[in-house]
Amino acid sequence: MSDGTVAVRAEGIAKHYGGVKALNGVSLAVESGEVFGIIGPNGAGKSTLFDILSGFTAPTMGTVEILGRDIGGLPPYRIARTGVARTFQRTAIFGDTSVENNLLYASHTTQRHSVLGRMRRSEAWARDRSSFRAKADAVLALAGLASVRQQTANTLAYGMQRRLAVAIALMKDPAILFLDEPAAGMNEHETEDFVELIRRISPGRTILIVEHDMAVIRALCGRALAIADGQPVVIDTPDKVLTHPQVVAAYLGTDDE
Ligand SMILES: Nc1ncnc2c1ncn2[C@@H]1O[C@H](COP(=O)(O)OP(=O)(O)OP(=O)(O)O)[C@@H](O)[C@H]1O
Ligand SMILES: [Mg+2]
Repeated sequence: MSDGTVAVRAEGIAKHYGGVKALNGVSLAVESGEVFGIIGPNGAGKSTLFDILSGFTAPTMGTVEILGRDIGGLPPYRIARTGVARTFQRTAIFGDTSVENNLLYASHTTQRHSVLGRMRRSEAWARDRSSFRAKADAVLALAGLASVRQQTANTLAYGMQRRLAVAIALMKDPAILFLDEPAAGMNEHETEDFVELIRRISPGRTILIVEHDMAVIRALCGRALAIADGQPVVIDTPDKVLTHPQVVAAYLGTDDE
């Protein structure tokens, strides 16, 4: 399902916070269409790497290219336009409003209220609303949330709230999707449903996924990168990565799997 073009390329990434070397010398090339895993013990630098690859944080050293374009110095909204969306380690949904409104806000985050006010009274608004509904219908069906579209988000089961976070990201129809520990805290059944969701949305997209649940990594990823203490250890198939002596050693003595 990879077509040989590189969706995300990073060369020699380092990130230092004062004396803390959160990342040191990480390079990778994720091909278009891959589902690519990133694993490592707590504090290894996985979220920091995601922040850098998706353009939220600038690296101290190194370069990132998204679809062949160097994103150094580009503001996040310009990077979003290249087709990148992400979810965060802690769920970012609007808990007090409906599932559908969560998607509506997601599709208007780049608009200003004054513009919205004018659109409401215009034909453009009506057109926009019907295209929003079509898009929301498709995303809700894909995410298995159609039956709860009017439900208040924070009354949903936990697994559904996490799927809503993915649905919000899907409203942008991203070519490249970054998921930071999307299955954390899910029970076994919720995790199985989640793996199915990612399988449904993966055709035609590149997906990078940070996850502590190794069953999820094995089920979804063709390749994975292991990092430990900010250093790259190995990039290979999940089986090879998870049995790599340095990866096994890095996990020993931690609470991770
Ligand atoms: N803004 C920051 N300022 C200072 N140190 C930071 C900052 N962000 C991350 N760090 C440090 O960088 C290291 C890597 O953190 P990061 O959150 O990337 O790890 P992680 O692999 O995502 O861990 P977890 O599995 O717990 O989510 C840690 O030592 C962390 O304390
Ligand atoms: Mg993290």
